[in-house]
Amino acid sequence: MAQKPKYKVADMSLAEFGRKEIELAEHEMPGLMKMRRQYGTTKPLKGARIAGCLHMTIQTAVLIETLRELGAEVQWSSCNIFSTQDHAAAAIAKTGVAVYAWKGETDEEYMWCIEQTLVWPDGKPLNMILDDGGDLTGLVHTKFSQFLPGIRGISEETTTGVHNLNKMLKQGTLKVPCINVNDSVTKSKFDNLYGCRESLCDGIKRATDVMLAGKVALVAGYGDVGKGCCMSLRGFGCRVIVAEIDPINALQAAMEGYEVTTMEAAVERCNLFITATGCMSIISGKDFMRMKEDAIVCNIGHFDTEIDVAWINENAAEKIQIKPQVRRARTCAGDGSFRFCDETASGNQVLAQIELWCNQKKYNLGKSPVLERLDEEVAESHLDALDVKLTKLTPAQADYLGIPIDGPYKPEIYRY
Ligand SMILES: NC(=O)c1ccc[n+]([C@@H]2O[C@H](COP(=O)([O-])OP(=O)(O)OC[C@H]3O[C@@H](n4cnc5c(N)ncnc54)[C@H](O)[C@@H]3O)[C@@H](O)[C@H]2O)c1
Repeated sequence: MAQKPKYKVADMSLAEFGRKEIELAEHEMPGLMKMRRQYGTTKPLKGARIAGCLHMTIQTAVLIETLRELGAEVQWSSCNIFSTQDHAAAAIAKTGVAVYAWKGETDEEYMWCIEQTLVWPDGKPLNMILDDGGDLTGLVHTKFSQFLPGIRGISEETTTGVHNLNKMLKQGTLKVPCINVNDSVTKSKFDNLYGCRESLCDGIKRATDVMLAGKVALVAGYGDVGKGCCMSLRGFGCRVIVAEIDPINALQAAMEGYEVTTMEAAVERCNLFITATGCMSIISGKDFMRMKEDAIVCNIGHFDTEIDVAWINENAAEKIQIKPQVRRARTCAGDGSFRFCDETASGNQVLAQIELWCNQKKYNLGKSPVLERLDEEVAESHLDALDVKLTKLTPAQADYLGIPIDGPYKPEIYRY
């Protein structure tokens, strides 16, 4: 690892283009820019060596530069083999950040890239993890466990990564305190919901150019992502069917006016299938055999285990690639996530990293304190940009409700 290259990206000549896009993105990411102004002089992340594993996109470039502005040293890989925007990676490499990411990595290259982010050129190892999906966390816990005692914390971005952390916690294999960024309201109820609402149809259209109006679409999973997908498809005039295992989510879908039934019952009627469960084997060989001709199947969940792609590869009469590297709606088929929503997630990542780095003693294994205040801070940092005017509680009203004038405004169990 000592001999590693300074960075590895697809094409450094894209750096200038990447820089222009980063400058544009900064205007769409007011929360991160506010954090730079707020924490840029005190540098709360000084001494932090953050290994990051998150889609190497333009938005993430703004996150990386924010972490550096706050004092951190950063090394980066992408958490998906197809989601890197090569111009973003080149622009970041040009600033001297050790970034190892390009669009279209093989699975072996993907793991190689993550490994390069663990040790700094001076031989010092990472002391913080910023993860999306849990691959970096998993690698350090299994193959590089010698680094675990020096790591102060992990901030995890997504539902699937959080499931993995909970599994590790139950098995007793998790060795580092974590903050679950995904469950911040300003992450899951914004990025997962509104981000996917904005991106799903964009991704499908860029990949296929089909008209969506009038088509029948089945969305498997009516969690935050599924809800966003359903809104998006309905907005284009699709007739939407939901498949769910949880009676609460199934009832929510029904109350929104969606038909709720099983894949088995609906498969022959649908033109489009979207998997958004974080589970496995949602669409398998028996379903493919019953689908309409020209059915469109896509996964917006974190891992492509939701669709049995191996079955298609084994059984397809012919496979024609029309567009390259379309493997996950949104980050791969589309041009990545939309910045305003993505950055509510990034704002939480920054605050989580500061919390774990500066207040380590507060964080025990498996127990993260309420992040309500962080959530409100992230939300508030976006209001000016949208010209939102907040109503202020009067002292008498605050007294009447029994809450502080400046928040938190809701109890921990409030679900938004
Ligand atoms: N593509 C993106 O941009 C993006 C963004 C955020 C999250 N994600 C990923 O999307 C996935 C879903 O995230 P979420 O936040 O909506 O999670 P969630 O837990 O809120 O929702 C998942 C839903 O799927 C249901 N479900 C589970 N197994 C099922 C099955 N076999 N059949 C039908 N329904 C089933 C669950 O009951 C749940 O309601 C995760 O993998 C997450 O990491 C993707």
